[in-house]
Amino acid sequence: MNTITISKSTDLLRMATAGSVDDGKSTLIGQILFGCNAIYEDQFSAIEKANKKGGDEADLALLLDGLTSEREQGITIDVAYRYFSTPKRRFIVMDVPGHEQYTKNMVTGASNANLAMILIDARKGLLTQTKRHLFIATLLEIPHVVIIVNKMDSVDYDQNVYNKIKEECSEYAAKLNLKDLQFIPVSALKGDNVVERSKNMNWYTGDTTLGYLENLQVSIDRNLIDFRFPVQYVIRPNQDFRGYAGTVEGGIIKKGEKVIILPSGQKTTIKTIIKNQKECDYAFNPESVVISLEDEVDVSRGDMIVRENNRTEVTNDFEAMISWFSDEPLEKDRSYIIKHTTKSTRCYINNVSYRMDIDSLHREGADTLGFNEIGRVNVKTSELLSIDNYSQNRSTGSFIIIDEFTNNTIGAGIIVDKKKTSDADIKNSSLRSKKGAVLWFTGLSGSGKSTIADKLYDLFKKNDIKCEKLDGDVLRGSICKDLGFSKDDRYKNIERAGFLAKTLSKHGIITIGSFISPYREQRDRLKSETENFIEIYVNTSLEVCEKRDVKGLYKRARNGEIKEFTGISDPYEPPINPNIELKTHEETKDESLQKVMDYLIENDYISKRDCNNY
Ligand code: ADX
Repeated sequence: MNTITISKSTDLLRMATAGSVDDGKSTLIGQILFGCNAIYEDQFSAIEKANKKGGDEADLALLLDGLTSEREQGITIDVAYRYFSTPKRRFIVMDVPGHEQYTKNMVTGASNANLAMILIDARKGLLTQTKRHLFIATLLEIPHVVIIVNKMDSVDYDQNVYNKIKEECSEYAAKLNLKDLQFIPVSALKGDNVVERSKNMNWYTGDTTLGYLENLQVSIDRNLIDFRFPVQYVIRPNQDFRGYAGTVEGGIIKKGEKVIILPSGQKTTIKTIIKNQKECDYAFNPESVVISLEDEVDVSRGDMIVRENNRTEVTNDFEAMISWFSDEPLEKDRSYIIKHTTKSTRCYINNVSYRMDIDSLHREGADTLGFNEIGRVNVKTSELLSIDNYSQNRSTGSFIIIDEFTNNTIGAGIIVDKKKTSDADIKNSSLRSKKGAVLWFTGLSGSGKSTIADKLYDLFKKNDIKCEKLDGDVLRGSICKDLGFSKDDRYKNIERAGFLAKTLSKHGIITIGSFISPYREQRDRLKSETENFIEIYVNTSLEVCEKRDVKGLYKRARNGEIKEFTGISDPYEPPINPNIELKTHEETKDESLQKVMDYLIENDYISKRDCNNY
């Protein structure tokens, strides 16, 4: 048994294979490897051993790693990358599992493939899963698709079966925008039309699988124009050198070129480029390099270095097609983690415009996406991302969505449209995400603190402003459960609430607190200790509060059932100089809300553009 000599040819074909469980992907790849001697001795003896245990044909699926678990579980587990070469060409095979649940790997593993090889079981024909793979191949703009109609031996090599499948697939594919779709009838198990032309299917005159793979003209679809360098690591081996490591995800750059750091907008020049520890003049996609810059600029992981006059869009708002992998349906307005190039930040799905019906390829109105569904959504991120449309750059135009609690990848998407963001907006937006504040509502029980606080919170949420709400009643039901209403306990209660508010606001979150907080001295102290502490006095007279008596507590306090009740049997010390004063018995709720918003906009906590629908 000869082993293959690795070809020096640089002609590389990246292919993604997909099929349903048991469609014979592993066997097919195994046959190809076997047929062109692209296997090693140890692997071959493993096959022989397995063969001795039974079975007529060499079980070539054994050639692929991860096989044991595949066999045990009946499904392929993860994307496996295989490298092999024939005298004509080098191959990278991404084995994308066919089980429904693993559609995600098709998206995450296949976006840089030149070719998608999709297997169909001749006995089963075109399944929804195959349609999904075809649709995803279109979405990912994989330039070539070949459908292998496998297991032809089990349908007596019947041309009619093959033709019927071919027709069905072509009819479906006609609705997609596939550039190149080919079909090959095969028996991977028996080796028909894999490496050797099949004697059982003389009616087929096209290429064998290997022939097709070796001869496929692969256009260079690398983007060599738009330079994109997402910073992966900052490298500082000594005082004199500061370098940025990463992969050139698009274009080409040379020493001395002017660049800009996004999103900050700092401009500088490329000083050195280091490739494999050697200095050189150029770097291009897809090389991994370390670059250093002429000026002392502030660059960190997740920043994007681009040419000054060829920038990505910098935005936190874009449209995407996403594929959802989680059993739990997508929840609008829930916070997820988005990973885009080397940057991770929080995001919300703001809107689902439609869901694709994979069978009919119709767009259906939808409010969410369930397991394995694909649809168009609007994404808002808390930090700015430097993005391109997927059609321009597959790397800067795609992302994955992660559940922050389980760390699972629950969605993958490609960017199809993005909002234009002006420089001024970028500045505003980055300000917005950095400047937290505490909006502290104080006033008697029943004064309307929580009502206004809730309205404000809803408005912020609607406008994707990072915020959190802390409410007296809620805290007293949780982390302050141990406290009553003595002076000491109220102090402790407000101390804890104040601590939480301060901590959250430090992270750029506008924190809305609503507590009676009756003691002036304590409020003033909180104010002096907390940056951007805004005291909002909800000045509603005791008389009005008592008349409202929403919770019936005033009545019970008057009856003596509740002791130490604020305003009745316990003091309330109104602020002398609050930042905002609301008079809920004179103003409508909307007027009170407006007052708070005016203050926040005037004092630059939020920009009018960020919060326009109130
Ligand atoms: S604070 O005084 O410590 O700031 P906090 O805002 O957390 O009070 O909680 C006030 C809420 O607790 C009131 O809205 C009311 O529903 C309830 N409550 C129960 N007993 C009392 C009391 N003795 N005094 C004030 N509020 C009380």
